[in-house]
Amino acid sequence: MDEAVVLDAVSKVYGKGGGAVAALREVSVGLPRGGFTAVMGPSGSGKSTFLHCAAGLDRPTSGVVRLGGQDLSGMNETALTRLRRERVGFVFQAFNLVPSLTVAQNVALPLKLAGSRPDRARLAEVLERVGLAGRAGHRPAELSGGQQQRVAIARALVTGPEVVFGDEPTGALDTVTARDVLALLRGVVDELGQTVVMVTHDPVAAACADTVLYLADGRIVDTMSAPTAAGVADRMTRLGAYA
Ligand SMILES: Nc1ncnc2c1ncn2[C@@H]1O[C@H](COP(=O)(O)OP(=O)(O)OP(=O)(O)O)[C@@H](O)[C@H]1O
Ligand SMILES: [Mg+2]
Repeated sequence: MDEAVVLDAVSKVYGKGGGAVAALREVSVGLPRGGFTAVMGPSGSGKSTFLHCAAGLDRPTSGVVRLGGQDLSGMNETALTRLRRERVGFVFQAFNLVPSLTVAQNVALPLKLAGSRPDRARLAEVLERVGLAGRAGHRPAELSGGQQQRVAIARALVTGPEVVFGDEPTGALDTVTARDVLALLRGVVDELGQTVVMVTHDPVAAACADTVLYLADGRIVDTMSAPTAAGVADRMTRLGAYA
């Protein structure tokens, strides 16, 4: 199977000595290219750490991460910075838009940082994709939360990244708006063949994915394909997530 990201025995320990915390313990998994993977687990189970290691935002203490076949552990900081800019997209719970820039300028930012001149047609295409074609000149403060997250998704898509990672991308949105954003993510997987990996606490959000990975205490303890919201909620309850 073709995999966009592979983790091989990845461990991450924060701190040293008696205060050391093992956030990931020898996690091995492949994330299929063109697939939508959700990552669930109780608070503190290592979900964000997993995402950060998989995306090259953080270095594992041991083990290997391969993104698009390339081993990240061999890369220096400059190369990693380039990879983060050009080959992965990231969407956070807090939209992290630059307030003083327009929608179009926010979306173009990764291209500018990468030193390439933003292509107008490309910008128009991604804004159209996220349903904001008419909002290119607006500032983030003039948009709703859902629209701001759509800008963040457009910004994550603009470079045509290997993988789009989301850390609770619907966490700050109301239920209805969250559904729209999930449908958008599902659409980029189905229609563009984009690989998406999303951490979520919401069983309904996880049910939009092809596969759900369950983390508990730094380990992948289960995998579920073709998830349903009820099935995910049941599995989470048995992990003690809602205790
Ligand atoms: N920078 C850090 N320094 C020390 N410990 C950390 C650091 N980041 C995370 N941890 C610890 O690593 C463990 C996993 O944290 P992580 O943020 O990955 O969990 P999570 O599953 O994303 O939780 P949540 O659902 O609350 O966001 C936790 O015990 C956390 O306290
Ligand atoms: Mg987290």
